[in-house]
Amino acid sequence: MLFKLGRFAILTHLINAKVIWAKYSEQGKIVSSIRLKHDMQALPIFINIKNRHCVVIGGGDIALRKVTMLLKASGAITLISPTLCHALQQLVDDEKIQYLKADFEASQLAGACLIIAATDDKTVNEAVSINAKRLNIPVNVVDAPALCTFTMGSIIERSPVVIAISSEGKAPVLARYIRAKIETMLPASYGRIATIAGEFRDQVKAKFTTTQARRIFGEDVLQGPLVERILSGQEQAARTFLQTVLNSTDSKANKGEVFLVGGGPGAPDLLTFRALRLMQQCDVCVYDKLVSPEVLALVRRDAELIYVGKSRDQHTLPQEEINALLARLALEGKRVLRLKGGDPFIFGRGGEEIETLMQQGVPFQVVPGITAANGVSSYAGIPLTHRDYAQACLFITGHLKDGPIDLDWQAMTRPNQTVVIYMGLVGLAAIFEQLIAKGVSADMPAAVVQQGTTQKQRVVTGTLSNLAEKVALAEMKPPSLTIIGKVVPLREKLNWFHSS
Ligand SMILES: C[S@@+](CC[C@H](N)C(=O)[O-])C[C@H]1O[C@@H](n2cnc3c(N)ncnc32)[C@H](O)[C@@H]1O
Repeated sequence: MLFKLGRFAILTHLINAKVIWAKYSEQGKIVSSIRLKHDMQALPIFINIKNRHCVVIGGGDIALRKVTMLLKASGAITLISPTLCHALQQLVDDEKIQYLKADFEASQLAGACLIIAATDDKTVNEAVSINAKRLNIPVNVVDAPALCTFTMGSIIERSPVVIAISSEGKAPVLARYIRAKIETMLPASYGRIATIAGEFRDQVKAKFTTTQARRIFGEDVLQGPLVERILSGQEQAARTFLQTVLNSTDSKANKGEVFLVGGGPGAPDLLTFRALRLMQQCDVCVYDKLVSPEVLALVRRDAELIYVGKSRDQHTLPQEEINALLARLALEGKRVLRLKGGDPFIFGRGGEEIETLMQQGVPFQVVPGITAANGVSSYAGIPLTHRDYAQACLFITGHLKDGPIDLDWQAMTRPNQTVVIYMGLVGLAAIFEQLIAKGVSADMPAAVVQQGTTQKQRVVTGTLSNLAEKVALAEMKPPSLTIIGKVVPLREKLNWFHSS
């Protein structure tokens, strides 16, 4: 019957699917169906074992892993083994589990809701399996799928959200690999979303009486600022937001907010997970000159891009206008990504931008980025501190608001420290001269790194007496960072990143 259905039939054949239910139109065409590609070898279910009697046989590390898992689910565990490893003994001493110091006997299984055999004795494991099956109690035997009536899979915990992955015992390494992938995709605090959503469940049910209305509301809220507030630790603000939305007649109450995100020093894989997630959620992205094209390429494709980049003496948009722009866009209901190079709070004027947002009551969060000093020094093979050469590190800006260089020379000339100068390229020669005049050795090592962390990274090293000239000869351009200190020559040994 299925094979007369043209394209659908071909598809069915291709994916080797089995139709287990189908609805036909009057013309005999399938209008909807449920297809199963394969039969599952096991049914994935979650069993509530809270305060229920669970039996674990075995006293070693593997038994410990299983006991730990059962304890997380609040099972009442009896452990049976003639010997115990140290950690299990501790659990017994702390009265977290019951302990029966004995060899396995079938009678010990009576009344259990679940049994796990975790001994290294095949005969014992087999006996546990046979007896559990006889009693119709679910049994798991570690590393022996044929003896199991249930397996637990690889687990990702974001309690109360739990994800279990099974490869039906065929590819446990693949299951672990998939687990690792999902672990990186789901922020650790994801479970908090479920907990807070749970607190409002009754109210949501009362307000939205159909499943469809609840689903639309849920999807709407989940894609909005609620989740981001929870994930950034603003749980009370999330509750207030959800309550406001529920009280409002308009379920799409203003969703505008600003994400002040550090885009790092250039290499896109130096972004944080959170930065990337928010970059892919925004409606509009307001970005700086320092944001590398590779990083910008990761912003959601449909987002509007607004360039407000600044160079040393040429401000595309004055700072006050940027502050106002961010607030206005968010108040229009947009999710605004304010994307900055490095870290927003290090010579990034992030503080000024959020001050305006605060004044205007616009919700925001700040996502740190790898600042140039960290990223650039790592990629140049210059550790900023070292037990023998530098016990402190000073970040300083070489670009002063009104031109002349007037830095904190006293702080900069302290011994046993590294000085990192942001935006110092133009005044490099003058800064070095002043440092020498203030008593720093003319032989003090220094380096200038241009476009650090990117494929275009260039590094020029020298001393306070000759580096400015070398940099001019090499025609180094911004963005460039200057590092001064006895750590610089370590680069000769530690340079690991391909650079010219
Ligand atoms: C306005 S500051 C912004 C700093 C940024 N907020 C941070 O945390 O890195 C700009 C200066 O950072 C330094 N910088 C930023 N990215 C850099 C890179 N990839 N390589 C070298 N220097 C960089 C340069 O000194 C540049 O002039």
